[in-house]
Amino acid sequence: MSVEAEAAAVGRTAGHARTQEVVWHHRHLLDVDVVTWPEIELIMRTTDEMKGVLARPIRKVPALNGRRVTTLFYEASTRTRVSFETAARNLSADVVSVSTATSSVTKGESLVDTIRTLEALGAEILVMRHSVSGAPHLAAEIFGGHVLNGGDGWHAHPTQALLDLYTMRQHLPDGDLRGRKVAIVGDILHSRVARSNIWSLTAAGADLWLCGPATLLRGMDRWATAWDGGAIPGHGRFHVTSDVDAAVRDADVVMALRIQRERMQGGLLPSLREYAARFGLNAERVSLAKPEAIVMHPGPMNEGVEIAPDVAISGRAVITEQVANGVAVRMALLYLLAGAHEAAVGHEAAR
Ligand code: NCD
Repeated sequence: MSVEAEAAAVGRTAGHARTQEVVWHHRHLLDVDVVTWPEIELIMRTTDEMKGVLARPIRKVPALNGRRVTTLFYEASTRTRVSFETAARNLSADVVSVSTATSSVTKGESLVDTIRTLEALGAEILVMRHSVSGAPHLAAEIFGGHVLNGGDGWHAHPTQALLDLYTMRQHLPDGDLRGRKVAIVGDILHSRVARSNIWSLTAAGADLWLCGPATLLRGMDRWATAWDGGAIPGHGRFHVTSDVDAAVRDADVVMALRIQRERMQGGLLPSLREYAARFGLNAERVSLAKPEAIVMHPGPMNEGVEIAPDVAISGRAVITEQVANGVAVRMALLYLLAGAHEAAVGHEAAR
């Protein structure tokens, strides 16, 4: 297939989007709370197209040829960072990867200075992870291009929530989550994955249950009571419980979250061994879910703590599918954001 035909094949998505009257207009993606359900569906359809690209012998299209994507990770990461970089390369973007451990950050350079420097060096799309909640929002205020949040503090991890949603839809009849029970079990308190999933899964109409020890659910009850589904009619509510059997029973999806020891101040858990015994997803607990239920984990896993090793490799586990889908979802988002840029440039030129 020629380069032009490849570009047209991927470009179909945008045309498809327009025929359904959904045009991507977000300059940044900082969380899923600002994305409407039709926009989430557009991301899912674009991801389908990207899966098509990934199924080819040569997994590369020229959609972002010459565009510059920079990853700036202030926190450890394997899958998210490699996934973004693979996604950008699959779209033929030029990728620069900044590791803060070997950058001028270690000499005391501020976040603002680092971002201005990267922009002066040509960065157009900045993928950023930071341990401080809100750091990508600050970046978006000063950066002239697009900011994609790769996880900030406890706050948000939009691409993880979107790849989780995509993976769930693949396993549910008609890809429909309405009324489907999704249990998320683990360290909810410190989890940006849980917070972003609350928005996307309630938007999808799922019956969402958050479960963990009371100390790792603090504040969630109040949020659940006050939850107005982002004020979007038809959005589901979510439940908060420390009763793991109640959360997992008859679930369609069971997701374990990592116990985030690096974020934990003393006293929240008596011991990891006790946590594993009371809340860890073992085969017996998972058997309470529906027979066809899937088991998920965003990784990295602490096997033997939040998830038993045999559950993590069982036929129900879709953990490596989540990783593979992550590349396609991130290709879709890079593509949509870059397209929004093009539209903005076109708009400027037309004025
Ligand atoms: C998560 C993260 O970093 O927020 N991992 C990921 O991105 N796949 C979850 C975690 O660290 O436990």
